[in-house]
Amino acid sequence: MEERVLSGEAMINDLSFEQSLRPETLSQYIGQDKVKDNLAIFIEAAKMRKETLDHVLLYGPPGLGKTTLAVVIANEMGVNVRTTSGPAIERPGDLAAILTSLQPGEVLFIDEIHRLPRAIEEVLYPAMEDYCLDIVIGKGSESRSVRLDLPPFTLVGATTRAGAVSAPLRDRFGVMCRLEYYSEEQLTDIVMRTAKILDTQIDWNGGVEIARRSRGTPRIANRLLRRVRDFAQVKGDGIITLKLAEEALELLQVDRLGLDNIDHKLLKGIIEKFRGGPVGVETIAASIGEEATTIEDVYEPYLMQIGFLQRTPRGRMVTELVYEHFNIKDLHK
Ligand code: ADE
Repeated sequence: MEERVLSGEAMINDLSFEQSLRPETLSQYIGQDKVKDNLAIFIEAAKMRKETLDHVLLYGPPGLGKTTLAVVIANEMGVNVRTTSGPAIERPGDLAAILTSLQPGEVLFIDEIHRLPRAIEEVLYPAMEDYCLDIVIGKGSESRSVRLDLPPFTLVGATTRAGAVSAPLRDRFGVMCRLEYYSEEQLTDIVMRTAKILDTQIDWNGGVEIARRSRGTPRIANRLLRRVRDFAQVKGDGIITLKLAEEALELLQVDRLGLDNIDHKLLKGIIEKFRGGPVGVETIAASIGEEATTIEDVYEPYLMQIGFLQRTPRGRMVTELVYEHFNIKDLHK
C-alpha cells in the first residue's frame, strides 16, 4: 500500500483545560531554578542573534513539567509549539509531514522521544543538523535520494529515560536539561497557585499537607488538590484546611510520605515475598502485576530518592527505613 507522506495524524492537539493551569512563562514557572537560569540565557542569546534556539532534551521522572517547559520555551521565543510523541509517529512519512508543515522558528515537542523507532530517528538526524529531509524516491536500482529544505525549527525532546535515547540522537541536542524532584516549599507554592486559578479557598497548612504527600511531583500535587477540593465541597464547607486535607488524603490512601497503594504493594511485596531483596525488577513486576518499565520509570525513582529502595548489582533491596515506615520488625537480620 502507498505510504501517505503528508498525513497529520501523529499530531496531538493538547490544548486542554490542564494547559490553563500551567505556567506560560519562565517567571511563572516555579522550581527547577538551574534549568530555568540556563534556558533564560540560551533563549535570550538566540533572540539577540535572531536565530532559532538550539535543540533541547528534557529528561527526568514523569510529572515534573517537561511538557509545560516545552510550551514555556516556545512562549519565551515568541513562537508556536507543535506537540507529538514517540509512539504516535509510526512511519517516517508521519514525521516528514510534521516537519514540512512547521513554520520558521517553531518548536516541535516530541514527548517520550526514546520510543521513536530507529528508522524514524534517522529522518530526524539531517532535520536537526541541517534543517533538511533526505527523501528516497523510487525503488531498487531506480531509487534516488532528494534533499528537501525545511524551515529552521527547535526540537524539544522529552524522556523519562535519558539512557534509552540512542547516542546519535542524544548528541544532536545542543542543550540537555535534567529535571529534579521539587521541594516541599516549591510544591506548596504550586498548590497555592493552582488553588487560586481554580478559585478554591485553601489554608497555607492545607497546601503544605498536599505538597508533602505529592512525591516531589507537580502533576501529583495538582491531582491531589483537585480530589481534596471535591472532598471539601461535599464533606466540608469548601475550604481546604489542614484537618480536611489530612482526612481526604487518608481516604485517598495516600500516606504521610505520599506513598500510594502501589508503592505499598511493591515495598511490602519485596519484604514479604523476597525477604527484603535483593530481587530482580522483572520478578517484582510479575509478583505484583505491574509492567517492569512502569516500576522502573514511575515508582522506583522516588522510592530511591527518599532512600527506601536501593539498586544493587543483584537486584532491588528495601532499606531499614521501609521497615520503620510500616512498623515491621526486620525478621531477617
Ligand atoms: N503547575 C505545574 N507545574 C508547575 C510549575 N513548575 N510551576 C508553576 N505551576 C505549575
